Amino acid sequence: MDTRALRDALGCFATGITVITSVDSQGKPVGVTVNSFNSVSLDPPLILFSLAHDADTLPVVQAHGRFAVNVLSKAQEALSNRFATPELDRWGDQPFAMQGGVPVLPQTLATLVCAVEHVVPGGDHQIIIGRVESLRWDPVGEPLLYHRGQYRGLATTEHEARLEAFSQELYEAIQTCQNVAPLTERWPQITLKDAYHISLGILARRQAAGERLVGKKVGVTGHAIQKMLKVGQPDFGFLTDVMQTGAQMKISGVLSQARAEAELAFILKDRLMGPGVTPQDVLDATEAVAVCFEVVDSRVANWKIKIEDTVADNASSGLFVLGPQRAAPDAMDWSACKVEVTMNGQPLSSGTGADSSPGSPEACVAWLANTLGAYGMALEPGEVILSGALVPLQSVVAGDRMTATIDGLGSVSVEFV
Ligand SMILES: Cc1cc2nc3c(=O)[nH]c(=O)nc-3n(C[C@H](O)[C@H](O)[C@H](O)COP(=O)(O)O)c2cc1C
Repeated sequence: MDTRALRDALGCFATGITVITSVDSQGKPVGVTVNSFNSVSLDPPLILFSLAHDADTLPVVQAHGRFAVNVLSKAQEALSNRFATPELDRWGDQPFAMQGGVPVLPQTLATLVCAVEHVVPGGDHQIIIGRVESLRWDPVGEPLLYHRGQYRGLATTEHEARLEAFSQELYEAIQTCQNVAPLTERWPQITLKDAYHISLGILARRQAAGERLVGKKVGVTGHAIQKMLKVGQPDFGFLTDVMQTGAQMKISGVLSQARAEAELAFILKDRLMGPGVTPQDVLDATEAVAVCFEVVDSRVANWKIKIEDTVADNASSGLFVLGPQRAAPDAMDWSACKVEVTMNGQPLSSGTGADSSPGSPEACVAWLANTLGAYGMALEPGEVILSGALVPLQSVVAGDRMTATIDGLGSVSVEFV
């Protein structure tokens, strides 16, 4: 068999590109570019790749017995070259995190942490079959492809270009405290799925700029707002570290149309991923509950939103502050708890946990875990989950002061500056 012809024929088969990472006996990271990766079995969860007999990484993976498959995104061509070049110091300035005893590369499309299950001889290669132990994936990023010996990307459709443009526009509007025209007026065919895609695009930009995901919020939980937006369920957005403030909250120059709402925050100790998450599962996975203010803000001018506008705009989230007290998840019946809000010393509003749809604050968090599950995302330990407004939204400006109190839980005060 002419090996050149065989290579050329096999090169017609387009693949993605991975970097297989592991650690050697001295604890040093190793990594190698591999496109022979493929799925084998769903149950048990098995994958495979093949490594040349003379690849330095082969004995390392075999000895350590564990490795990670890092699936490269379209922006990671340089990583593919780096981990395929023998003479390079592949890890010199390369950031990585340790997960399950192996190094994982940041900003990849997916990570699969695996244990070596079998090593099978395959001619001048060895086929390594791994059992997947943990994984994560990015539901929106695009892959780096390899075809006929060249790097390729997916062709971008007009639809995808439009999603990217809206993510960029809204991200810039958040950074510059500007408003935009409703997306639904400019793109009447926009679907809820498109809107979530745009929101994820904003999150990806925030993370690329160094912001850290610290939690998620459920929005549109009140019956009145659901009726106004003509939906029968809540929506969700993402919380990053820069969105959490102390009792003094700077809104001028940060939020353009701030509205404050009191709600319950669930601080998680265990991972929750749908489908099948129940309100009781939420309580079981919760470390503590706190009262909080979420200050929402719409980047859409005059809050002229339809459901797709607010979903695309990260569920209109702005900033949030947690009260100092914490309650155990079973400290009270959260649907019966009553919140009282004062503004500038005067009583303003009150509400109960039963004012949220679907049913109770913990049911809203369960809805979120189940909905995010379909996007490949989980609620992670340590995350703060805002479960939805318990009182009507109140416009606020610098100089206002608000307090929300829940009997038996405590209070949260905020001064807007
Ligand atoms: C796109 C691409 C895909 C590759 N796929 C594989 C592969 O599946 N198996 C393999 O053994 N080498 C593959 N290589 C080559 C290795 O990355 C390369 O030989 C590397 O230097 C081996 O490193 P090591 O000796 O440190 O293990 C690939 C290279 C590129 C650029």
